[in-house]
Parts: sequence; structure tokens; C-alpha cells
Amino acid sequence: MPEFSRTLVTTALPYANGPVHLGHLSGVYLPADMYVRYKRLKGEDIVHIGGSDEHGVPITLTAEKEGIAPGDVVDRYHRMNLDAFTKCDISFDYYGRTSSELHHETAKEFFLDIERKGIFRKKTEKLFFDPKAGRFLSDRYVTGTCPICNNPEANGDQCEQCGTHLSPLELLNPKSKLSDATPELRDTMHWYFPLGRFQPQLEAYVNSHEQEWRQNVVNYSRTWFRQGLGDRAITRDLGWGISVPLESEEAKGKVLYVWFDAVLGYISFTKEWAEQQGSPELWKEYWQDPQSRLIHFIGKDNVVFHTLMFPAILLAWNEGRKEGIYNLADSVPASEFMNFEGRKFSKSRNYAVYLGEFLEKFPADTLRYSIAMNYPESKDTDFSWTDYQNRTNGELADTLGNFIKRSVDFTNSRFQGEVPAECTADEWNALGIDWQETLGQLDEAFEQFHFREAVSAGMEIARASNRFLTGSEPWKAIKIDRDAAAKTMALSLNLCHALSLVLYPVIPGTCNRIHAMLGFDATIEELFSRGKSLLDVLRDPPLKKGHRIGKTSEILFAKIEDSAIEPELKKIEKLLQDAEKREAAAVEERTEFKPPITFDDFLKVDLRVAKVIAAEKVKKAGKLLKLHLQVGSSTRQVLAGVAKNYTPEEMLGKNVVLVANLAPRTIRDEVSEGMILAVEGSEGALFVIEPVGDEINGKQVQ
Ligand code: MF3
Ligand code: ZN
Repeated sequence: MPEFSRTLVTTALPYANGPVHLGHLSGVYLPADMYVRYKRLKGEDIVHIGGSDEHGVPITLTAEKEGIAPGDVVDRYHRMNLDAFTKCDISFDYYGRTSSELHHETAKEFFLDIERKGIFRKKTEKLFFDPKAGRFLSDRYVTGTCPICNNPEANGDQCEQCGTHLSPLELLNPKSKLSDATPELRDTMHWYFPLGRFQPQLEAYVNSHEQEWRQNVVNYSRTWFRQGLGDRAITRDLGWGISVPLESEEAKGKVLYVWFDAVLGYISFTKEWAEQQGSPELWKEYWQDPQSRLIHFIGKDNVVFHTLMFPAILLAWNEGRKEGIYNLADSVPASEFMNFEGRKFSKSRNYAVYLGEFLEKFPADTLRYSIAMNYPESKDTDFSWTDYQNRTNGELADTLGNFIKRSVDFTNSRFQGEVPAECTADEWNALGIDWQETLGQLDEAFEQFHFREAVSAGMEIARASNRFLTGSEPWKAIKIDRDAAAKTMALSLNLCHALSLVLYPVIPGTCNRIHAMLGFDATIEELFSRGKSLLDVLRDPPLKKGHRIGKTSEILFAKIEDSAIEPELKKIEKLLQDAEKREAAAVEERTEFKPPITFDDFLKVDLRVAKVIAAEKVKKAGKLLKLHLQVGSSTRQVLAGVAKNYTPEEMLGKNVVLVANLAPRTIRDEVSEGMILAVEGSEGALFVIEPVGDEINGKQVQ
């Protein structure tokens, strides 16, 4: 890997629409912070930029629900999240907001540049308009019945029940969320970014990183390439966001799509950071010097925006330029997800532990350590209270904390608080730790984002240290061989110092306290100096004979009693019970029958036995299969939302029950001539009703 002197790290901008939870911390902010702190330890120039994503429809929906202005929503959560990150020692160099003036300017500048180059396409489409509210309705503002599973509360962009991605035009009985009015279709013009125009460049870009990037990042991007990149609308009819910066009539009432503006936040916030440094042009070195390295920490759900959308915007800007050319990201470490007590975090079901709330009860470093040890690098992981308690009490308190305290206390009581002997390099390496190798492994682990390995390596040193001190028994030795005891303590204190540096990226607050206990006035941060790696000092024993340590020691980690986590476990139990109750209520509902109909009504429905003679997947509709049915002497095409349970091959040859006289409707540009009967099992899975019998094809079901 080439050596870069300068690195810019960005972390996904959380929506200022709710509090960040432990899942966010584990995948994005903690790994980024560990990386950044490690690089600072090495004396490198690194800047960490983050901030709030303050636009987008979910924010306006929250505002409307609460009857307040969108600005109030984002103010509240921006403050709350920044506060939680600060308490958690996430060391942003700058934490911005996409509502800032400079950000609006930056986003507009990008839009205008690309517009001037004639790269955007304009398309007029039909969009729902709420005649009562006098507004166009973006996807999330329309609700209606899902054409696939008949869920009456599907959203305009997706049905939560069956998971199908929808367009509002596909909903049956569409309603506006603003006024309950039935929306009407009107023409509206939008700007589209032609991603396809950049596909060759983007493919070359992803290919060139195939070796270093994680498999998931390369694979997600390639899935998109295979489908072919299309045009993406980058404007919306919405009253909240960055206005389209044109005077024309067609630009009125339109804002930039939130994702177009959010990714540019990384740039605007670096500019704001540079201004704050008193050096307004400094941001350019990080974005435009080809020697600088750019790294985006994100969750897996944001991959395409960072490997395709954002690079494409930058490529569009770079086009035809000789100067002011932006770098594309060198690395996009996207995490998998961390679950919580075996289940997915869910904001809507309030199944989450929010970072701010957690830190009101427990210290940041114990959380950081546990989360780091469960970093979801290549598969989903789990956070549980018991694991958190065990790691805190065992690894942090009993192993690390205990070792440091014993070393400092014994030196103070028996050696007048001074490092009592000189240690040689040989002795330093004879502790069962090969420093050259250990530091090399540590470096590789951090540089390649293997955070669990990096932190485990640090904890391994703590274990070895503990074993060394306990095994050497200086409290006995001191009575017969004072020199031997002195040597033990000198080595132990050096190990304390080593631990304070090696574990600094994960538990920085604690490491500074260890540093102070060892008698250093300056914090570890104050010792950072560009070009000199603090880790280099560990190749030899760093503390000399006679170095004075601090006079007092402290307990670094309080043990977590069962009584402290019991209420938390109860809370989860209650949440799970509530979920069960909801499930029971749903079963109850199953025996609530629809109002009676007459026999004649029933006879109106023409149910027929049909056979599947061809089946295929429907593009971009994960749940849908397109089925060709033989019904007696005729054939039918039907779209069925059963792909979650059946592959096309499995459907082939099946007998099904067809609702044969249902008026045809269009889903995903395909006509569906009828429906097949199915029943819903758990988690929305559909099971097809399969009639059996001889010569039943085409016959009526009665
Ligand atoms: N707000 C988005 C989310 O929470 C992430 C935006 S990342 C950015 O999923 F790069 F666009 F800012
Ligand atoms: Zn559905």
C-alpha cells in the first residue's frame, strides 16, 4: 500500500430525525474514531468530518406529525446526537449540518456546474398532487393498498408488509398523507442524473479497488452494474431542502434530492472546518491533492451512494477541468449490522438502545470496548447486556484495571513512586511479547480496518502483563531479593505505559487516566506530533529508571452488578412480550370475519384451477414472479408476490387457483390478468394454494 501523508475520514451523516443508537455506533462512528485515533498516534495528518443530514422527507413527516417546523426537528436531534457522540468520545474534527449556508452554497454550485455542462436530463412525469394541500406528493406522502399483498397501509415507496419496492402509481386507492384527499395526477418536470453515462468510469474505479475493498462493497456495486445504471431523479417537489438554484418557472417549489445534497456535506463541512482553522483554503489539500487519502465509513445500506452516486457527481464536476479536481474515495469500509439481543434494531418499534441514554447510566469506554469487540466487519454481530457485563467485569476490570492499579500501588508503597530499575531491550522482549511483531500486527489490523483483531491484540498484552506480574510475585520477592522485585515493577510500569498507547484508540479516556497515573502531565493527545509515531517508543522500554509516577491510583473500571443490568433485561423482556401480544392480537383478528355476502355475490367470483407453464422473476421487484398459466384452452399472465418462498423453477408445473374474472391491472409495466390464491405464513411469507385431483385444469373451484 502506498504511504499517504494526509487522510480525510468521513462518517455517514445520520438523519437529524431521531437519536443515534448502538447499531450506528458499532458500524460507523466507533470504527472511524478508532482508526482516526490510531493514525493520530502514528503522528499522521488526519481529519475526521461528520455531521447531521438535515433534509429529506422523513424529517418533514416528523415535523407534521408533531405539529412543529422541520427546523425544530433537526435542531433537536442535531444537538442530541452531537451531545451523545461527544459523551462517547467520538473525536470529530468538525461536525456540521446540511442546513448551513455554506453547505447550501456548495450543493448549488455542484448542481449549477453539472447543469451548465448539460449533463442532467430533464423529464416530465406524472406525479400525485394533493388538491386540498396544493402540493405535489413525494413517494412517502402517498399511502394506499399494496397491489402485491393487499396491505391497506402500504407507503408510496415500499410496502412494509411484503417488502416490495413500489411506486405510488402502483398503489390501489391512493390517499394523501397530508389531507386524506385522493391525489390526482399532474405533470411535473424533474432533473435526472444520468448515472449510466458514467458507468464505464465507475466500473473501472470499482475494479481498480477490487483487491483491497471488502467483498460486500464490491458485490453491491457490481449488482448495480449488471442491471445497468439508469437515470436518477435528483430533484423533488418538496418545501424543505436546498432549492433548485434556477430562476425558471419549472424550478419553482423544487429542492435537490436529499442524497444529492447529503454526500456533498462531506465537502462543505471540510470547508467549514478549514475556516475554523483560520485557513479557508486548507480543505482543498484534503479533497484535491492526489496524494491525500479519502475514506468513507458507512453502513452497508449506504454503499451505492458512496461507490456510485457520489463518485459520479464528482466525475461530472471533474469533467473538462484542469484544476480543482476532486479525489474519489480510496476506501469505503462499509459495515454489516449489529443486532441487539438477537434481533434487529428497529426505530419504529422502539427496539433500540440509544447512545445518549446508555451513556447516562454507563461509562463510555466500557461501551466502546464491548462494541469494538463485536464490530460487524464481515457479518452481522450481536450486542447483549450479558456480554457487555462480562467483558467489562472480566477483561476491563479484572485484567486491565487490576494490573494497572497493582503496578502503580506497589511502586508507590515499596519504591517511593519511582521506576525502580532500568530495563534492557532484551528483558522487554522476553515478556512473551515480541514488540516488533506485535506492533506490526497492530498496525496491519488498524490499517485494514480489522478492529476486533486490533483491540484483541491490545487486550492480549494486558493478559500477558497480568500473568507476568502475578507470576513474578514481587510482594514475596521484595523480602528476599529487592532487585528482582524492582525489575518486575520497572517492567510492569513499562507495560502500563505500552497499554495506555496500544489501547488508546478504543478506550481513550481510560488511557489518558493511566497516562496520568504514570506521572505524565501532558495528555496523550498533547503528545501527538506530526511525523513521530508514539508507537515507536514502544520498541524499547520507554520508562527510564527514576521516572516519577503519579502519587495516587484509581479504580479504572467499576464492575457492573447484576442489579444494574436487570432493569435493562426487564425492558427487553417487556418489548418482546409486547411483540408477542401484538402477534396474539393478530391471531385474534384472523377469526374476525368479513361482513356476510349472499351466495350470488360469491358466485360472481370465478375461481379456476390453472397450471403454471412458465415462470420468471420481475426485474427490480424482488417479491414478484411473472407466471404464465394454462387455464383449460386459454393462457393467462399473472404477477404473484410469492418470490420470497418460491423460485421460478419451483412454481413450474404447479396447480394453482386463479381468480379468473378479476379486472386486469398493471404492475411494474406488466399486465396481471388475475390473481392466484395464497395464504400468508409468518413474516409475510406467502404459500400458494395447490389443488390436487385428476383432470381438474380449467375447472371451476366451488
Ligand atoms: N442520512 C443517511 C442515513 O442515515 C446517510 C447519509 S450519508 C451521506 O442513512 F453521505 F449522504 F451523508
Ligand atoms: Zn405488500
